Amino acid sequence: MRCDSITEVIGDTPLVRISPEIHGLKNIDLYAKLEMLNPFGSVKDRAAWSMVRESLGDARAEGQTVIELSSGNTAKALAVISGMHGVPFKSVTNRMKVPEIKDLLLLIGADIEELPGQAECLDPTNVDDPLTRIHQAIAQDSTYLHTDQYFNQRNTAAHIDSTGPEIIADLDGQAPDYFIACVGTAGSSTGVAKVLREARDDVNVIGLVAHKSDFIPGIRNIDEVHEVGLFDPDTYDTIESVSADEAIDGMLDLVRRCGMLAGPTGGAAYYGAQRYLQKVDGQLEAEGLGQRRSAVFIVCDRVESYMSYVRARRPELLGQTARPHSVTTVRADELSGVTALDPGDAQEWIDAANPIVVDLRGAFAYSASHIAGAINIVDELFGELLRGGLPFGKSQPALLTCPVGEKSAKYAALLKRMGHENVRSLEGGIVAWRDAGAPLVRD
Ligand SMILES: Cc1ncc(COP(=O)(O)O)c(C=O)c1O
Repeated sequence: MRCDSITEVIGDTPLVRISPEIHGLKNIDLYAKLEMLNPFGSVKDRAAWSMVRESLGDARAEGQTVIELSSGNTAKALAVISGMHGVPFKSVTNRMKVPEIKDLLLLIGADIEELPGQAECLDPTNVDDPLTRIHQAIAQDSTYLHTDQYFNQRNTAAHIDSTGPEIIADLDGQAPDYFIACVGTAGSSTGVAKVLREARDDVNVIGLVAHKSDFIPGIRNIDEVHEVGLFDPDTYDTIESVSADEAIDGMLDLVRRCGMLAGPTGGAAYYGAQRYLQKVDGQLEAEGLGQRRSAVFIVCDRVESYMSYVRARRPELLGQTARPHSVTTVRADELSGVTALDPGDAQEWIDAANPIVVDLRGAFAYSASHIAGAINIVDELFGELLRGGLPFGKSQPALLTCPVGEKSAKYAALLKRMGHENVRSLEGGIVAWRDAGAPLVRD
């Protein structure tokens, strides 16, 4: 294969069958679409190239900067492609949670602006989120070429034009019975699903997202997914969630048993595919008609960038002992033992016991509105503090709050395990408190 430009290498990724000895499905052929083999390392290479290829010449002539709200693969691909064409690239993002990708972006020459934001993905319905404000501001600014991946139809078109047809071609002209993909901007799943359904209308499309308040880099969690962008619920027959732990388990199977050096979303897709297809396989087995089915899942990117992610969650995999007092180790039984107070009871308890109120949200959300007297320790920092032991006396009453009451419940469970005697969590978080009309103050 001989090319004039690296961008010619984008796409045409292999479809590799997973051995039935590994997935254990008796009646289903399961294939991995190896998007990790795109030249810049991910499924987003296609979207990035599709979004800028027509505009780079003009952008260079007019001295524009390509800008995108991305902290991961889209930013990486855009940074490389823009750089190759002599156009600067800027990534605007909430706190970068994957340090290797930040380093890589800087190495490629990207300019990074980190905001003290809240959600991982853009939520334009949340007018308080700085990412939303920046999104609105850059739309009016002609010095920028805004690729706008959450809304840009060229993101989806990249997969209508290439990823979907490639899958059909590699399956001898047939669409698979099942298509399983993780959902970030929804571009890849929407584009591929459209092409597969045009080929046959009974394809089952399974969208995968992260569990509530769990973080799998590059994809949304179940609370965020319905909010914005290219996401259309009709694309999916089912939406299921995968935990970060399950994503890592799936990733380990791909890495260790299949020879595919996939990242956590590839792992999530494999785990979700196997879990879903096991039920189908059981039914096919019971029917005993000997019918074979086929399924395809997407391996979005590579493992190398996620070492710190794995170390924080499963240190034993990297030869280290588990971190003591880590929130990732909180068990379901510990969580159910937490005292969660609804806003009315929390208000009464604040008046009666004068607890320390710890607000675990980001600094921006805190300064916009918080419970009077609350102190702000953003969740990750609070996690670091707890590594050293309890940050306040074990009988000091403490009320933990967060956006919707999930993170605070986990940290309350952890404090309890560490011997704290009087910790409670605000049920429903600051959102429930606000909706109940309870008082909030602003700095
Ligand atoms: C690692 C990873 N996996 C999956 C996805 C999801 O792809 P899409 O944005 O097409 O839904 C992304 C998107 O950024 C990603 O970075």
